Amino acid sequence: MSGAREQFGSRIGFILAAAGSAVGIGNLVGFPVGAAKNGGGAFLLMYAIFVFAICLPVMMAEMSVGRHAKKDPLGAYSAISNNSPKWKLAGWLAIATPFMIAVFYMVITVWIFGYLYEAVSGNLDLLANPDTFGIFINSPSIFAYMAVVVGVVYLILQGGVKEGIEKAAKLLMPALFVMLIGLVIFVLTQDNAMAGVKFYIVPDFSKLNASVINGALAQAFFSLSLGMGILITYGSYIDKKSDVPTSAKLVALMDTAVAFTAGLMILPAIFSFNPEINPEDLSESSVGMIFTYLPSIFLALQESIGYLGASVVASLFFLLVFFAAITSLVSIFEVPVAALMDEKGVSRKWALTSLGSIMIVLAILSALSFGKIDVLTTFVSYAGADKSFFDVIIDVFYETILPLNGLLICLFVTYRWKTANFNASLEEGSDNYRGSWFEKYVDISLKTFIPVILLVIFVNTVAVKYFN
Ligand code: PHE
Repeated sequence: MSGAREQFGSRIGFILAAAGSAVGIGNLVGFPVGAAKNGGGAFLLMYAIFVFAICLPVMMAEMSVGRHAKKDPLGAYSAISNNSPKWKLAGWLAIATPFMIAVFYMVITVWIFGYLYEAVSGNLDLLANPDTFGIFINSPSIFAYMAVVVGVVYLILQGGVKEGIEKAAKLLMPALFVMLIGLVIFVLTQDNAMAGVKFYIVPDFSKLNASVINGALAQAFFSLSLGMGILITYGSYIDKKSDVPTSAKLVALMDTAVAFTAGLMILPAIFSFNPEINPEDLSESSVGMIFTYLPSIFLALQESIGYLGASVVASLFFLLVFFAAITSLVSIFEVPVAALMDEKGVSRKWALTSLGSIMIVLAILSALSFGKIDVLTTFVSYAGADKSFFDVIIDVFYETILPLNGLLICLFVTYRWKTANFNASLEEGSDNYRGSWFEKYVDISLKTFIPVILLVIFVNTVAVKYFN
């Protein structure tokens, strides 16, 4: 490719773009749902420990590999390993995974946009009807919504790193924070909200078991956008002077703060608008709750603030989730786009258009796999269950390959690139990293227990998912 590699324009631009990737549907929905399901406070605590003890070092590993190699994940794995075919395979995984995850993330983003559209159109009572979601995901309007989402992502990525990704993050992230805080204040002033706060904050350790712990770790990993080559790619757009340890800490902190705050909005809302709720029922929560349950919570608001007011609150909520989803989707899709540009020397526009076309076809197939087309709805069957095309993408790429990619980057940094080089690279941009206890912790953890934990998760997932 001709010309210098694109760069983020400022340190805060990079941090907001990485935080924009990290803050997504996982924070605003996945995390509150996880907390609701798994006993509130205890989950919160486990989650926080995992973010800082396990995910943060992995995040630093990804960012520094990208920054050092100045290449997409495939190029970075090849360059640092001197073209080892084995490590190239890890590079391929790190670009194929985001490509496939973009497909399912896109479908969910399309649904969110559809709900935003309906909320803004004043159709809150329609959304609150429990049958709506099933009909909605199979309705032809999905394709119109998909066109909008694709258009927005295309426009942002077409602008490139500085004018596209960074600008979008600088606009959308602050808007998201403001809306989130506004909604939290509103929810907390409603009756009975404090019962939700109590459930959320006070840990019930009797709820902790292996699956809760596993769930908290998987949630943290996904939420920080790890294992997907994203931070390798974004890291390749910063220079040697930038401080990776501090940036990574800030991104982890912002991501966790948003997840925590989203919980502080959703759990009190559930308790406040359903005073009769039995906390045990929450153990059945799922991400689908955003589409079936939350609109009914918003509708309940009409008692106190009228239908129009309730519609405004619902619209704000879906707008918030939509913004978060867009900055994440952009980051996921940037990985294969950057890889195609780097590896084949094509223009951004060409990479975006060709990969975008394949991706749209896959997204359409996923969107048709909820009953519309039989071969897609019962695409394959394993572990005694029929799986749709959409389910398979989630199982294979999100549940299985994500932790594997995390494991590979840890092994790569410590055993192939070597800890000394990794440290030298991190010390370059940071004046207080060398010799700090944090540096020692990162080195030891990446060499020992982090890969072991990720390996256990990977093996366990394969055994449980496919051979049960
Ligand atoms: N981290 C984002 C979220 O929490 C999702 C995401 C995952 C984004 C993987 C990019 C890559 O929703």
